[in-house]
Amino acid sequence: MQIRAIRGTKDILPGESMQWSAAENLARDLFAKYGYEEIRTPVIEDTALFKRSIGDTTDIVQKQMYTFQDRGERSITLRPEGTAPVVRAYLENNINNKQGLVKLFYMGPMFRAERPQAGRQRQFHQIGVEAIGSASPYLDAEVIALLVNFLKAAGVKDFEVKINNLGCDKDKKIFCDQLKEGLKPNLERLCEDCQSRFGKNVLRILDCKNHDCKKLIPVITSYQCDDCESHYHKVLDMLNLLGVKYKTYAHLVRGLDYYTGTVFEVTAAGLGSQDAIAAGGRYGNLIKDLGGPDVPAIGFAIGIERLLMASSPESIVHSPETKIYIATLGEAARKKAFELASELREAGIVCIMEYDEKSLKAQLKAASNQECKYAVILGDDELKKDKIILRDMSKSEQEEISLKSFVTHLKSISYKAVPGTDIKL
Ligand code: HAM
Repeated sequence: MQIRAIRGTKDILPGESMQWSAAENLARDLFAKYGYEEIRTPVIEDTALFKRSIGDTTDIVQKQMYTFQDRGERSITLRPEGTAPVVRAYLENNINNKQGLVKLFYMGPMFRAERPQAGRQRQFHQIGVEAIGSASPYLDAEVIALLVNFLKAAGVKDFEVKINNLGCDKDKKIFCDQLKEGLKPNLERLCEDCQSRFGKNVLRILDCKNHDCKKLIPVITSYQCDDCESHYHKVLDMLNLLGVKYKTYAHLVRGLDYYTGTVFEVTAAGLGSQDAIAAGGRYGNLIKDLGGPDVPAIGFAIGIERLLMASSPESIVHSPETKIYIATLGEAARKKAFELASELREAGIVCIMEYDEKSLKAQLKAASNQECKYAVILGDDELKKDKIILRDMSKSEQEEISLKSFVTHLKSISYKAVPGTDIKL
């Protein structure tokens, strides 16, 4: 029996991989402009890291983690998200001792054992940022503006930024108490999951997708202390200043327990039920809870699969590089072509050639199938004359060029653009 990819995982095939690297290059380039540096953390971590950070009673920890015992009987988990590993690495490597505000970005696979559907996988990929070391509302606004600028540059057109402020620990407790008060009379009408959430972690009821549960949620406003309220207003002010459009949502809580203060989510049109392409927020206690100092932080993560579903490929991959195909006739020509291909690549031109004996017709067909802009034809006759034939594949026009000036000529007509470097904000 043929072995297939694990359910909920996908191969990223050559046609799509260009969009993936374009998105990644775009992130690298744009994030650097805001002072972020890349961090790469392991895919496996101590299970306790996620239990302590994401929260024992969250869906991720209770139902979705890929956890196993390794040969040394340690409990290991495939990372379900990137924030906790980044904070662990930040503490373990004393990154905080070298700088004040630390700005890090990451990209890579995450793993959650969810029911697969369009836009929801068991191995999915995130691009994320974490800014550790400042509680300033300027930073909140800058992080959200960075996300919005990234999405615009990636060609996502129809998206909405939802924002809320959960308040500090004390505010969160008041909110939870009021929520419980409001839900208590209707406890039996809540779904089974929410009835259990009511006792364990009432905030999670706000994430419930069940419409009947949603209807029972009481409207709770003004539970934040003066400091948190003023922080929230400053963030919104700065977003207005930067021209970032957003909507405030009093019930936006997000599914991870580490959030306090500002939380946000970006949804895109046309993605069905899995429409959150990015999400993030402040995590005021996480660093302290993981054994570090009392340092505030904020970040976000973008789901790459959903990002690519919401953006048009042509807007993210700007100009594919001009590809040259060298077609040869005869062994002597093939040997010369082999040398020329190497020269072209050294000159930065993308070039492929045929190594086996094939008819010119078959070779030109291959050039067109592989979307080559030009075919270079080299036969023994051309070789004797020190010439090559250059064929424009789209126009079906060809001209003879001297072998000597060939590389310079190709350099002058081939436009090379590295995907993702041409950012227009
Ligand atoms: P999250 O909301 O769990 O946040 O995930 C962020 C994004 O990852 C989602 O908006 C979605 O695009 C994508 N995503 C999540 N699960 C899946 C899945 N099963 N399949 C496909 N895409 C998925 C976090 O992970 C936080 N660490 C974000 C953060 C960073 N907060 C502060 N810093």
